[in-house]
Amino acid sequence: MIPAMPPLDPSISAVLHAADAAEGPVVFLTGAGISAESGIPTFRGAEGFWQVGSRNYQPQELATYSAFRSMPGEIWAWYLYRYAMCQSAAPNRAHLALSELETRLGDEFLLVTQNVDGLHLRAGNSAARTYQIHGNLDLVRCAGACSPELTRMPERFATWEKGRPLDDEAEQALTCTRCGDWLRPHVLWFDECYDEERYRFESSMAVAAACRLLVVVGTSGATTLPMHVATTVAQRGAAFLVVDPEPSSFSDMADANPRGCFVQGKAGEFVPAIADALSADREP
Ligand code: OAD
Repeated sequence: MIPAMPPLDPSISAVLHAADAAEGPVVFLTGAGISAESGIPTFRGAEGFWQVGSRNYQPQELATYSAFRSMPGEIWAWYLYRYAMCQSAAPNRAHLALSELETRLGDEFLLVTQNVDGLHLRAGNSAARTYQIHGNLDLVRCAGACSPELTRMPERFATWEKGRPLDDEAEQALTCTRCGDWLRPHVLWFDECYDEERYRFESSMAVAAACRLLVVVGTSGATTLPMHVATTVAQRGAAFLVVDPEPSSFSDMADANPRGCFVQGKAGEFVPAIADALSADREP
């Protein structure tokens, strides 16, 4: 049985009422913070991947196509460790609430996520309604782009330890069988551009222009497409919630919007209650 939710703060309810009176889908935009309660460190927190896993590198130096080309083994070892960490994590209450919300709202629901951990899909959200704008570590593709095909990350890497170097077998498993180039993780790197085919750029902007409510969860605002999405929604004056324990440029936008509210707290605490309120009159 699902426990009853505590009542929402009136300022949050007011935003949800404003959304109710408008047209368009409900859009959730998620970042690393929604997976923090699954045990995956955020990027810019004290235990972030960059500091822990990358020794002397800044994220912008390491997570690039050019770094991959100059030291593919090191970059792969780092991504394999991240992949193994995501594999050992499980969806939390916030992920599960968004899966349930999609079931209830159907095509009135959309999820735009920066997370490459795959936890939204594992929680049950559909690939069709989940725009993974930075890719997904569960997938690999040819680094030389001899084909656009995406394939599953080989199962054998699910337990890769931090700092373990690639051996010959691993290199073999990470070689494109068509052209002999390296495979690469299916993620957007800092020296690459968003596009529609792989990263749903236009689709994300289209839902920003049409949504009746944007709920931003657990993202610091360090990348460009999420910022464009939020700015578009803010400029339209559409209903806007931000759930995060820390203030950010997104929370500033929510505070400046008459139909906005900054919900200062953890995703696991607030997302289930917001999802419940959004679907209270819908059949499960
Ligand atoms: P960040 O690490 O930059 O931000 C995480 C946000 O989550 C911060 O605002 C935290 O305050 C918040 N947070 C922490 N715990 C939370 C919790 N329990 N509930 C809700 N929020 C919580 O991560 P992102 O903004 O997702 O890009 O990072 C954006 C992008 O930068 C990533 O997708 C990645 C990275 O470089 C690429 O790889 C291209």
